[in-house]
Amino acid sequence: MMLIPILLASIVAAGHCSASVEEVFASHKVVPDVIAQAPNQFLKVTYKQGLVAKEGVELTPTQVKDQPLVEWSAASGDYYTLILTDPDAPSRADPKFREFKHWVVVNIPGNDVARGEVLTAYIGSGPPKGTGLHRYVFLLYKQSSKLDFKEPHVSNKSRRDRPSFKAAKFAETYQLGNPVAGNFYQAQYDDYVPELHKQLSEE
Ligand SMILES: *[C@@H]1O[C@H](CO)[C@@H](O)[C@H](O)[C@H]1NC(C)=O
Repeated sequence: MMLIPILLASIVAAGHCSASVEEVFASHKVVPDVIAQAPNQFLKVTYKQGLVAKEGVELTPTQVKDQPLVEWSAASGDYYTLILTDPDAPSRADPKFREFKHWVVVNIPGNDVARGEVLTAYIGSGPPKGTGLHRYVFLLYKQSSKLDFKEPHVSNKSRRDRPSFKAAKFAETYQLGNPVAGNFYQAQYDDYVPELHKQLSEE
């Protein structure tokens, strides 16, 4: 008679060891600020020196200046879209340019990001001084097939089309459904930010 409650208690305790994507996205309001529904899986995002961008951990702009390794288990023959977006532009308190687009790669065959089509080249975090922590959200969508994306290509030297982006709207336009995986880190101003802003000088 005593066994069942004990068993249940241990199952519940084990479940709490690691938070789900849903819990983490809800507690940091990635849902609903960026997407309406959390994906089921965490995306694995690794920066230089093995720094892992996950579950809202704080990283510095210096640490995330180079494109990370993004990994997921893909079915061969499938195409994916990867997005990195900052809903806290220019700040989480006053997100009037929500979202700032950091990276968009489409038509990724399987999980080979290098072979995808880069619509918007990767740039790291550039949160302006005094704007606090920004959330940087990675979203992975599974495409129905290889698609024709009618979008301008934006280099890593340009801020063109980066502000006032909406990942959810982009996904809707290309009928990508809900993201299948995601993750995010947070960052605030450091000395690398002025350098990044200088880099984004081209039209
Ligand atoms: C910008 O993109 C170019 C071309 O892909 C690349 O060689 C360069 O390293 C990038 N610069 C930065 C700062 O990421």
